[in-house]
Order: sequence, then C-alpha cells, then structure tokens
Amino acid sequence: MDFIKQFSDYTEKIEEYLDDVVPLADNYQSEIYEAMRYSLLSGGKRIRPVLCMAVCDMLGGSLSEPTVIGSAIECIHTYSLIHDDLPCMDNDDFRRGKPTNHKVYGETTALLAGDGLLNKAFEIIGNADVPDDKKILCLMNISTASGVDGMIGGQVIDLKNEKNADVSVEELKTMHSLKTGALIDTAAYCGAVLGGATETEITAIKEFSSALGLAFQVKDDILDYTGNEELLGKPVGSDAENEKVTFVTLFGIEKSEEILNELTEKAKSALDIFGDKAEFLLEFADFLLERSY
Ligand code: IPE
Ligand code: IPE
Ligand code: MG
Ligand code: MG
Ligand code: MG
Repeated sequence: MDFIKQFSDYTEKIEEYLDDVVPLADNYQSEIYEAMRYSLLSGGKRIRPVLCMAVCDMLGGSLSEPTVIGSAIECIHTYSLIHDDLPCMDNDDFRRGKPTNHKVYGETTALLAGDGLLNKAFEIIGNADVPDDKKILCLMNISTASGVDGMIGGQVIDLKNEKNADVSVEELKTMHSLKTGALIDTAAYCGAVLGGATETEITAIKEFSSALGLAFQVKDDILDYTGNEELLGKPVGSDAENEKVTFVTLFGIEKSEEILNELTEKAKSALDIFGDKAEFLLEFADFLLERSY
C-alpha cells in the first residue's frame, strides 16, 4: 500500500464534497458563505474525515457514507478553529497558512461563519444517504462529542486555565481528550458504525482513537514550541504568549516526545485484532507522530 497515495485518494473525495456542500451564494448571505468557504477550503489536513473513511474502509464499508459524515465533522472542526482564533479565545492571526477568519471578515462575521459551519454539519448529516439507524448513532455521537461534554467542554477547561500553572496531569489529559480527542473519537466511531463494526471491533477502535486523539494534541503542544511557522501555517509560541498549560509546560519537550511515542504505540496496538487490514491506520498513527504541520 502506498500510504501517501491512499491518503490523497481520501482527501480528494473530501475536498470535492466540501466544495460542493458549502457553495457560494448570490444573495444577502454571500459574505458569510464566502467566510465559511474561506476557512473550510483552505488546506486543512483533513485528519478527521480521513480517519472516518479509513476506519470504514478497513471494515469493508463503502467510502461514500464516511465521506459525507466525515466532512460534516470537518465543518465542526473548522468552526472550532475559527472560534479558537478569535481575540476572546487564543487571539491568533494565522491559520492554515492564511490570515485568520476574523482578520479578513471581522469578528462578527467570523463568529457567525463558525456558527454557520456548525449548523451546516447537522444539515449534512440529516441529508446524508445513510440508513436511519446508523445515521442516528452518528448524529448522537457527533452532537455529544462537539458539545459541552466534548470539544466545547475542553475549550472551557483550556480557557479557565490560562495563566494558571497549577494544573494536575489528570486535568490536562481531560482537557486535551475533550478539546481535541472528542472530535477524533467521533470520526473513528462513525467510521466504525458506517462500516458495520461488531461490538468488539468498536471497543478496539475506541481504544485506538482515544490514545491517538490525546497524542494528536500532545504533538500540537510540541509544535507550538518547536514548529516552523511557515510549515505549520499557524503561529508558533501562541501557547506561551497566552500562558496556557500544555504538555510542554508540565513535562518539557523531551518527556512530551516520550509520552507522544507511548501513546502512539498504545493506539497502534489496539488495532492488533484487525491484522493486515489495519495497515493504513497504523501508518496514519506514525504520520501524525512525525508530522511537522
Ligand atoms: C488543529 O487541528 C487544532 C487542534 C485540534 C489540535 P489540525 O492540526 O487538525 O488542523 P488542520 O485542520 O490541519 O488545520
Ligand atoms: C485547539 O487547541 C482545540 C480546538 C480548536 C477545539 P489549540 O488552541 O491548541 O489549537 P491550535 O494550536 O490553535 O490549532
Ligand atoms: Mg485554543
Ligand atoms: Mg489555538
Ligand atoms: Mg495548539
């Protein structure tokens, strides 16, 4: 298997779908649609929809359903980034290699473009050509993962702890597992549901994605210190500037790298039951570990 080729086969489908499902408008809403598209179609890595597709693919499912459901998750992820960059949150000026949404369209439009993408996600799921029983499972899981008991809840903990160095490892892990892990978990879970996974398979996939999601944010924390701004497409040093608590502030770079390696190994070993079929996901975990953007 050619990992890069497989990855780009997945992302090609996602890009095409997203471009289609959030069109430009020629009416009173032309500016907000433009703002939504500005952030959505600006070269994100598409990790979440790729994960959704790859899990479903591993289980022998078709790609059309996880392309749609994964893209809905990508809309929610993009909304979370637009809001995360706002002055009242992380106050960042660059994202995906371009000025952040509010820098181009202003704060009010950026706020509403984020809201628009969140609602668009649920419209996409509602309209998806997916059997009702599976659709409801995905809908329930995605709503919880993106809500106060998921991504939003993680952002609450993140913001509460700005300028507070006295945070326990447990709280840090919970924050990361919620703000970043939850959407990664739901992408994998939806891929599993759409691929017709058994209960045992779902348990293994959950174990994989929860270690992978935490690892993903540990790497994000490391890149905020050691990354190259041009490659990363977003500011380096944002966490330090906002006095955030991260894996780097609690453990230092070297130990964080060690934790990242351990989590990646843990994620990979959860896929043992799938044997050779897990080849892409195993390489995906290594790709996320080694990424520089
Ligand atoms: C960045 O996510 C924010 C986090 C949740 C860590 P990604 O690293 O997936 O960002 P894009 O989508 O590729 O821009
Ligand atoms: C982002 O965490 C989490 C969400 C957007 C939900 P960060 O604030 O660390 O993400 P970046 O580094 O700005 O992408
Ligand atoms: Mg943040
Ligand atoms: Mg941020
Ligand atoms: Mg970060």
